[in-house]
Amino acid sequence: MSKMNAQKNTAWLGKDHLHFDRLPSTNDYLKQHAKALSHGTVVTADYQTAGKGRVGRTWQDSARKGLAFSVLLRPPSVHHTQLLPLVCALGVKSSLEMLCGVNAQIKWPNDIVLNGKKVCGILCEGVLLGDASYAICGIGLNVLQETQDFASFGLDHATSLLIETGKAYPLKDITAVLMSRLEHYYDRLIAEGFDPLLAQYRQACITLGRDVRVLQNGSEREGRAVGLSPNGALLVDFDGTIVEVNAGEASVRGLYGYV
Ligand code: BTN
Repeated sequence: MSKMNAQKNTAWLGKDHLHFDRLPSTNDYLKQHAKALSHGTVVTADYQTAGKGRVGRTWQDSARKGLAFSVLLRPPSVHHTQLLPLVCALGVKSSLEMLCGVNAQIKWPNDIVLNGKKVCGILCEGVLLGDASYAICGIGLNVLQETQDFASFGLDHATSLLIETGKAYPLKDITAVLMSRLEHYYDRLIAEGFDPLLAQYRQACITLGRDVRVLQNGSEREGRAVGLSPNGALLVDFDGTIVEVNAGEASVRGLYGYV
């Protein structure tokens, strides 16, 4: 493990930054040490041996070409915690715009999509402990993978920054911009609430207005994504009945492909 002391472009996020060559999971590291760590601590790893994805899935980077980045946050309320998946998605989208000049889209709640393929996944985990409650937001960004790195795992809907832009962005540049944009969006959420960010999220979200297949509690249903609730749940019209689908419980696919 090394403590990273590089000059930071942020007021608080990433002031404490621990980097590991290898960890089981950057989210789990923060969970295990949360008590001793401060709001805004960032953990990064070159390689995870047990990376976790949303809804119980695993997150693979066997090619060791991705970035694993997690941040510890202590939001003031459960409402703020519920919105973190969407707020982090805006932070990552904005980071990619700044760094690579690309216009990424968001597949609800927080897959980051370039040209119809997933370049980044985000796993936000909230731990409720009264005054000691905290949240961990983990970002897995595909950076240097080539098409065959994904093909060998059957990940036909995955892509990387290298594939999409032809450029090999240094991990330290990506880390710095992620810290700065996540701080910006988190500060806005706390200062202004989610309403002012909602328009930005809606504009970036490719799921809204589409026919989707919702995978939840082992069952599959088809409906149309028609809106978002104030706490970031997806509103899905199943045969005329509107149901709130929560980010923590469900996976949503386009009816005719990944998006
Ligand atoms: C998903 O798309 O299912 C979410 C993937 C989240 C992966 C990141 S990598 C950094 C952090 N540590 C983990 O174990 N998972 C997240």
